[in-house]
Amino acid sequence: MKPLSSSLLRLLLCITAPLSSVYAASDSSGSKNSLSPCVVRSPTTGLFYDLNAISISPPPAEAEKPRKNAREGSWHARGHDYGANFTINICAPVLEDVKDVVGVDRARWKNVSAYYEKEGKVYSIGQQASDPFFRGRKLVMNYTDGSPCPGDYLGNGSSHTKSTIMSFLCERDSPASQATVSFVGTMDQCTYFFEIRSSAACGATAPIPTNQGLSPAGVFGIIALIAVAAYLVGGCAYQRTVMHQRGWRQCPNYSLWAGIVDFVKDMLVILLSSVGRLFRFKRSPTLGHTRSSPNYGRRGDIDAENRLIDQLDEEWED
Ligand SMILES: *[C@@H]1O[C@H](CO)[C@@H](O)[C@H](O)[C@H]1NC(C)=O
Ligand SMILES: *[C@@H]1O[C@H](CO)[C@@H](O)[C@H](O)[C@H]1NC(C)=O
Ligand SMILES: *[C@@H]1O[C@H](CO)[C@@H](O)[C@H](O)[C@H]1NC(C)=O
Ligand SMILES: *[C@@H]1O[C@H](CO)[C@@H](O)[C@H](O)[C@H]1NC(C)=O
Repeated sequence: MKPLSSSLLRLLLCITAPLSSVYAASDSSGSKNSLSPCVVRSPTTGLFYDLNAISISPPPAEAEKPRKNAREGSWHARGHDYGANFTINICAPVLEDVKDVVGVDRARWKNVSAYYEKEGKVYSIGQQASDPFFRGRKLVMNYTDGSPCPGDYLGNGSSHTKSTIMSFLCERDSPASQATVSFVGTMDQCTYFFEIRSSAACGATAPIPTNQGLSPAGVFGIIALIAVAAYLVGGCAYQRTVMHQRGWRQCPNYSLWAGIVDFVKDMLVILLSSVGRLFRFKRSPTLGHTRSSPNYGRRGDIDAENRLIDQLDEEWED
């Protein structure tokens, strides 16, 4: 049975090769620049991480119904011994109306993504950004361009400004669009380190919106093609091993298909001959009935093909 299985395998490969190449093409097109903001693909696992789920957007205008998971404010993190609490949004400016931010121009107040309040003053620890990235296996994002750092640099242009590094940790049990932000620490009151636990940091096999994956119709088409392939392969195996058919007759429901093909061919012949007659009337009516029996030639062709396939079978079986 080795030749049979090898020929079946070949048939299966022929049918699935175009499919797999199509899939590979669509896979490689999902490169980084086609991803929407705040979505990143892990270079090691290939999973997609969509942090938009934990990005809080402003509540809609009052006339509209409030959305299901609309929040009053941004994420909060207790500062504990730092002496101030932090307010942070992911990939978006904070919802809170921040004013009089130390060392930040008025025009950039509305883009502050993280801040804290200390002794009545508002310090920005980073401007909005939406490009998370992977450092090794770690999903991180940073905000830069906050208030000036304390010390020698204070009032020295933009040489040193407060910034924030966020490390995202997967927490499968938490509901989607929930996040727990914890302040880890700061060494120099210039760079602030946070840990963010959320199920949005667990990764998904496909980017949820926007990216052009397989449409439902495409998935259905592939399933249909696989069904057809299974029908052909299984039918061939059955006809060969159980019914001992050879040549084209080993195809499942050969007579049915042959009938359909004959019917289509007959229809084509009728169509062509009537069209031809139309033209012949205009040109030379003497070329009338040269090909009177197209059926005979076709039957001969199929017999020749059957003989050829049988011959190949015998060669394989040797
Ligand atoms: C930080 O928030 C907690 C409650 O969330 C509050 O008890 C504490 O006083 C706040 N700390 C400061 C410095 O505002
Ligand atoms: C605020 O952020 C938006 C979106 O990233 C950007 O288009 C805009 O230029 C920023 N504004 C300022 C003042 O930086
Ligand atoms: C901050 O993020 C940018 C990309 O958004 C990256 O190029 C840069 O290396 C990051 N800086 C640090 C200190 O992680
Ligand atoms: C700003 O700081 C740099 C060192 O980072 C120093 O060389 C420079 O003189 C400072 N400029 C002013 C105006 O203080």
